[in-house]
Formats: sequence, structure tokens, C-alpha cells
Amino acid sequence: MANPIVIAIDGTSASGKSTNAKRIAKALGFFYVDTGAMYRTLAWYCQRSQVDVSDPKAVFAACRKWRASLECVDTHIRLLVDGYFPEREIRTAEVSRAVPQVAAVPKVRDWMKKKQRECVRFGNLVMEGRDIGSNVFPETDYKFYLDASLDERSARRAADGIEENLAARDAHDSQRAAAPLMIPLGAVVVNNSGLTPERTSQMILDEIHKRLPAKE
Ligand code: DC
Repeated sequence: MANPIVIAIDGTSASGKSTNAKRIAKALGFFYVDTGAMYRTLAWYCQRSQVDVSDPKAVFAACRKWRASLECVDTHIRLLVDGYFPEREIRTAEVSRAVPQVAAVPKVRDWMKKKQRECVRFGNLVMEGRDIGSNVFPETDYKFYLDASLDERSARRAADGIEENLAARDAHDSQRAAAPLMIPLGAVVVNNSGLTPERTSQMILDEIHKRLPAKE
């Protein structure tokens, strides 16, 4: 494929990135990439290997040592460790607490960016994260930034049975020096407080269709 299209979906925690990115990928027939899962996988690997996540050097050493590969499973592109995707393990409270520290290490971010850019070898992508439009694919014309009120985002997490201090995690992600969470230049900002996923993804799809090159 000459020039794969990359739809970048960034935003705060529990702003609906995963739900909408999956819906949009399905509607367009694109591959879906959850970059948060990649950082979570490294945090899980560090915990399992007894690597101190507050030690940036040790975290990056782990990142160089692990045997990680990109695989496509049912249109989802995933980072596997020793051939395994720790789907459930990366959603624990321990991993959620550790992951911002792992994600703040500049060399880890460089490593992840390289892997994330490699995903275009599979084809057109919908990629969700915190720095996709600002740092990983700054050249894309398809940038979206999702947000919702803190109350609504906390309620969504609670409905999933997850207790989490979202304000603290967002502050950590926005204030770190390396590729902080921000609204990428040229991004369409979608505040989906009070909106259904159907409505939100339709708004995003409408914007995408305006920009897609016309089919011959
Ligand atoms: O989206 P998530 O909650 O699964 O993300 C987990 C953590 O990884 C979150 O603290 C932010 C970080 N992250 C990041 O720094 N950059 C990305 N592109 C994706 C996630």
C-alpha cells in the first residue's frame, strides 16, 4: 500500500477513545491499534520481571531486553511478549498505577513510537493514544482529540467496575516532559459529555469522510 491512511485519536482517560476508535476502524475497514495497551504491556512486563518502574534506566533496559513483536489478530494490531498478549493482566489496578511512570521515560517513548509507526505495514490504521497526532504521526490529516467532563469520565470508569483517580493520571500524562498529552495542532476536538458512542463516532466519521480522497 503506497500511503496508508492513519486516523489519530487522542484524548484524556475514559474519554471514549477505545470505544470510538474501534467503531471507526470497523466502519472504515481499517486496522485498530491501542497504543495505551503497548505501554500497559511494558508496565506489566516490568512488574512480572521485578523491574522497579520508578527507575527509568531499568525500565528502558527491560524494553530493550523483552521479546516483543507486532501481530494482527482479528484486525487489531497488538504488541505480543514472547508471543503472548496479556489482555486481562494489563487492566489491573497495579498496572494502571505503574503505567504513567513507564510512559514518562523518553527512551521508552522513542522505542514505542518506532513500533507504532511500523504498524502501517499492515495497512490503513485507526490508532488511539495520547500523542498520536502530536508525536507519532504528526503528518496525518486525520487528528481527533476526545474529552468529556471529569464527572462523566469517572462515572464511565466506575460503570466498568474500575476505581481510578483519573484527574491524577491525566495530570501526570499532561505534565510529563516527554510527548505530554495535548491537543495536537489541527485536531478536531470532540467533547462527548452527554453524547452516545453512536453519535460521537458518527461525528468523527463525518469529518473523516470530508477529508478522504474521492474514490475513482
Ligand atoms: O489509554 P490507557 O489508559 O490504556 O493508557 C495507559 C497509559 O499509557 C496512560 O497513563 C497514558 C499512557 N499512554 C501514553 O503516554 N501515550 C500513548 N500513546 C498511549 C498511552
